[in-house]
Amino acid sequence: MKYTSQRGTRDILPEESYKWQALETACRRLFSLYNYQEIRTPIFEASELFVRSIGEATDIVSKEMYTFQDKSGRSLTLRPEATAPVVRAGLQHHLISKDKLTKLYYIGPMFRYERPQAGRYRQFYQAGVEAFGSNDPALDAEIILLAEQIMNRLGIKDLEVNVNSVGCEGCRKTYSTKLKTYFSTYASQMCEDCCVRIETNTLRVLDCKNKQCQEFIDKAPTLLDELCAPCKDQFDKVLSWLQLYGLKYVINRRMVRGLDYYTGTIFEIISKKLGAQNAVCGGGRYDKLVREFGGDDVPAVGFAFGLDRIVEILNAETRNLEPATKKLIYLCTIGEEAEKIGAELIYKIRKLGFPAEMDYLKKNLKSQLKEASRIKAKFALILGEDEIKFNNIILRDMEQAMQEVIPMANILERIDTI
Ligand code: HAM
Repeated sequence: MKYTSQRGTRDILPEESYKWQALETACRRLFSLYNYQEIRTPIFEASELFVRSIGEATDIVSKEMYTFQDKSGRSLTLRPEATAPVVRAGLQHHLISKDKLTKLYYIGPMFRYERPQAGRYRQFYQAGVEAFGSNDPALDAEIILLAEQIMNRLGIKDLEVNVNSVGCEGCRKTYSTKLKTYFSTYASQMCEDCCVRIETNTLRVLDCKNKQCQEFIDKAPTLLDELCAPCKDQFDKVLSWLQLYGLKYVINRRMVRGLDYYTGTIFEIISKKLGAQNAVCGGGRYDKLVREFGGDDVPAVGFAFGLDRIVEILNAETRNLEPATKKLIYLCTIGEEAEKIGAELIYKIRKLGFPAEMDYLKKNLKSQLKEASRIKAKFALILGEDEIKFNNIILRDMEQAMQEVIPMANILERIDTI
């Protein structure tokens, strides 16, 4: 073997790809029930777009971006997430404006140069939604409900919805100062990264996984307790809406998201079925980003699911997402004339809407039937000299190993009943 796939990337093979199709179909169905419409943005964007929105000091921007120069010297980046590209596209095509609700969804690959491990890839897939134009707490709750409904539809249990608020710029500034003072006292006992973060982006310190820092992080003041009155009111209203929907949640005061654009509500859905990488969905409100990108003051809220992790849960639960195809038919032909008649018949069978395959390897009948079993055909059609002579064809039920002789003129009608 000369080449293999790159570290952190993988090929999704036919034995798995049907699950992805089922998952994507479930997402599309639910997204459109909540009136989201699909948007497809390019895989790469100007690097600046991500630096400005996700934040220079975040892990994603400082360590994980696939950034390269194209032949004309532009700095481009493979998208590490889709919120910033959706805002960019929404503004560029005038989809987003004040006092207008715009709901968009996307499904596609994202790229982050992270250390690969179970549930963490360098090319991974997200399905996400972004709603622009309203700061109604009811919309935050609807978004969380939608995320939960998708999990529900897929029958995924043992999930925990974690909610928190990162407040507005105002309360975050006050909190950040308070936090900086607090952590500065312990800086000499904390890791190197944290020492830098205390100065550059204090809130990020809360994200540190280093053991030596945990003790100080655990005792740090929380933003939720420092929210200004309007932010607190907004968050309380989100919670009442969630209660109204009967949606169970946990207030996680320690939760921070790895992206800087959030304002107000943030949330994550955690699966107890996954290991260290247990977040299947993350999202929240980002009311300043549209303005930051040159648009009006348009509030926004959204989330993204990690599809790789959902497939992993489905695999762990050995849940069977059946391929949505109809029963496969395999046409066995013996001799040149049969092949010709067969080719015409298979064209008609496919036109009828049935997946069908025939022998292109000139195998004998026994081997053709073996092949029919291998590709899990439900039925085989057998066309040999005798059948042609009497204008018949044999229909064989592969599972039951039963067969019937059918006049050629009636075969399409018969297939339509299987
Ligand atoms: P995020 O939390 O960075 O948020 O990613 C969302 C989800 O993508 C995660 O919960 C996880 O399931 C999955 N994910 C992230 N990184 C990886 C990886 N390396 N391998 C496998 N799965 C991964 C965002 O991306 C935001 N844009 C979400 C959002 C939309 N916020 C508002 N609107």
